[in-house]
Amino acid sequence: MGIRIAGTGMFVPERILNNADLEKMVDTSDEWIISRTGIKERRIADADMATSDLAYHAARRALDMAGTAPEELDLIIVATVTPDKMFPNTACLLQAKLGAGPCMSFDIEAACSGLLYAIDVAHALLKARPSYRRALVIGGEKLSAFTDWSDRNTCVLFGDGAGAVVLAQGDDIDGDFYLASKLSADGRYADILQVPAGGSALPTSATTVAERQHYIRMGGSKTFQMAVALMANTCSELLQQTGTTTEQVRWLIPHQANERILTAVATRLNMLDRVYVNIGRYGNTSAATIGIALDEVNRAGEIKRGDLLLLTAFGGGLTWATQLLRW
Ligand SMILES: CC(C)(COP(=O)(O)OP(=O)(O)OC[C@H]1O[C@@H](n2cnc3c(N)ncnc32)[C@H](O)[C@@H]1OP(=O)(O)O)[C@@H](O)C(=O)NCCC(=O)NCCS
Repeated sequence: MGIRIAGTGMFVPERILNNADLEKMVDTSDEWIISRTGIKERRIADADMATSDLAYHAARRALDMAGTAPEELDLIIVATVTPDKMFPNTACLLQAKLGAGPCMSFDIEAACSGLLYAIDVAHALLKARPSYRRALVIGGEKLSAFTDWSDRNTCVLFGDGAGAVVLAQGDDIDGDFYLASKLSADGRYADILQVPAGGSALPTSATTVAERQHYIRMGGSKTFQMAVALMANTCSELLQQTGTTTEQVRWLIPHQANERILTAVATRLNMLDRVYVNIGRYGNTSAATIGIALDEVNRAGEIKRGDLLLLTAFGGGLTWATQLLRW
């Protein structure tokens, strides 16, 4: 039995927040944001739209492409740091919205590496359970709900969106899309990128709200340095381990955190001509960026069956992940 990606889908809300809008909110400028991050605009979900709603629209598109009905799903995994609620998990809420039947549904929280962690887990579950034929894997985030709109260090970076893939397993499928991966984490750096309050370590109180501790806090330059080194190094290691040259890879699809990070990683890998960059339009949508990029490349007809893709991500935890896929 083989496993392949049978469908991709993405969704971003209609509302655009551009750099001129941010100039009216904090002490920043279009020139600063573009030169330091490459971001021109990001999408912001309305108050009545939660992460499961963003995920729903991306999922519908991926399911339609795969020709899969929600009732056929055996597994749903949502990667997110911005779940609808502490519990139940967002995958269960999405399952109900899709009208899927009872099936294994859970969330994975590995920050911006979340979608790649979720693909790894979904692939392993399909292998372990041959009766599982269809899995829906989504990275979805409503980061605007956890962004401190008075903090210029972070608020210019983030946006909302979702990206989905449908994995299919069957006797009629030749080969396995998942060639190799490297996933890791180092919790010693947990503090450089976090939402401090709202969990069991620091439950919500009037003080935590007054101190704005429910919003994203980030040590920007440390994150920047580690992102470049870890993504570039794990990509090189994975290519070496699999005997693959960068020339054989059709696309490098990195997590969209900062255009300078993407350019630095692609330069080190000598893949500047094949790195997919869309951060200018969406900002950093955490677990959603790679799913969105994958769907855009796919729908643009820029990937052919058999092409190799190198996906790489880095995020809070710290977590990082790199995967080599065959389309
Ligand atoms: C956040 C980031 C864009 C900042 O760029 P930078 O070149 O590192 O800039 P610095 O942090 O050195 O800040 C330089 C100055 O710009 C200021 N600044 C920060 N945000 C600003 C903004 N939006 N507008 C204007 N000035 C800003 C800082 O206050 C600092 O001023 P100071 O020197 O007077 O203190 C960059 O560090 C980054 O992208 N880091 C990684 C973030 C990331 O990827 N996070 C998610 C990981 S998944």
